[in-house]
Parts: sequence; C-alpha cells; structure tokens
Amino acid sequence: MGRKPEVTLSAIGLRSGMVFMDIGCGDGFFTIPAAQLVGEAGRVYAVDADAAAVEKLRDKAAEKGLTNITAKLGLAEETVFCEVCADIVFYSRVLHDFKDPARVLRNAKQMLKPTGRLVNLDWKKKPTMFGPPVRIRFSEEQAADLIKAAGFTIESVASAGRNFYIITAKP
Ligand SMILES: C[S@@+](CC[C@H](N)C(=O)[O-])C[C@H]1O[C@@H](n2cnc3c(N)ncnc32)[C@H](O)[C@@H]1O
Repeated sequence: MGRKPEVTLSAIGLRSGMVFMDIGCGDGFFTIPAAQLVGEAGRVYAVDADAAAVEKLRDKAAEKGLTNITAKLGLAEETVFCEVCADIVFYSRVLHDFKDPARVLRNAKQMLKPTGRLVNLDWKKKPTMFGPPVRIRFSEEQAADLIKAAGFTIESVASAGRNFYIITAKP
C-alpha cells in the first residue's frame, strides 16, 4: 500500500468512538490502526479464515495494549458480529477472495447502522508489480454491481493511488 493505513482510515471517516468491522482482516494491517483511531470508546471486530493471521493479529494487539479488538477465526460468509451496530464495514484487498461475496455483503447489510458505510478497498484490475493475478481481481464496475445487488447504494468510487480503488456505499 502506498498510503499509510491510518491515512486511509481517516479519509473514509473513521473516528473516535466508532464501531469498525474488518472483514478478511489478515494479520491486522488495518485492524491495529483502526483500533487506535476508534479508541477505548469504540470497538473493532475482525475476522479471518487463516489461524496464523488471527494469532499474529492478537499478538500485535497484546503488544500494543489494545483491548478494544474482537478477533475471530472464521469465515466471513458465516460472520455477523452484531446487528445494526457498525459504523463502517471494511474490506481491504479481499472481496475477490471470498467464495461467496454476495453472502458476505448481505452480512454487512445486517451489521451496518442506517447511517453506516460499507467500504471496499481493492486492487485495480490491471497489471501491477505486486498483488493477486489480474484475472481474479474485480474491476470497480464488477465490485459495484455486487455491492448494489446486495441492496446497497453506491456513494463514491475513487482511485486510491496508482494501484487501488475505494468504493463506499450506503445500506
Ligand atoms: C490479501 S489478504 C488481505 C488482508 C487485509 N485485509 C489487508 O488488506 O492487509 C486476504 C485475507 O482474506 C482472508 N480470507 C479469504 N477468504 C476468506 C473468507 N471466506 N473468510 C474470512 N477470511 C478470508 C485470507 O485468509 C487473507 O488473510
């Protein structure tokens, strides 16, 4: 990522006291700075299917003394942390990885508050030095179509540096 994660998180509107869901969180590239941004009045829920990644995230959180993260080992398709409780449901570099992205997006719909936002950060569908094969990536249009099909309204589609795009959507 070109930009620092906290810069991206601030740009998408993450603030102190918010509830943030990091779905397909990996080892916490965004989870840790999100927990620092929302502070003790907020909460971060994170899920990943990779046990080693979740373990690493938990270690990083403990090292930093962060107690506002709930990290779960599991499938995004089977995860609704709580209903109508989230300010931001976030996917970073992962929507194309889910076996059933439509189901994952429907879960987001259940978790978001009416004032909340879904945010999808992903690789542009073009050759880049790093990142997944171009054939498995979703273009902005493909991702937006999936998000709309799950009942969201697209709010913005923007470039995030040379290699990424960010889609925000309202429930
Ligand atoms: C490329 S990594 C992105 C990690 C993180 N979001 C980031 O931007 O640094 C994709 C992650 O999605 C996880 N993943 C893939 N399919 C999943 C699923 N169905 N449920 C939960 N996690 C999944 C993988 O284990 C991996 O950690």
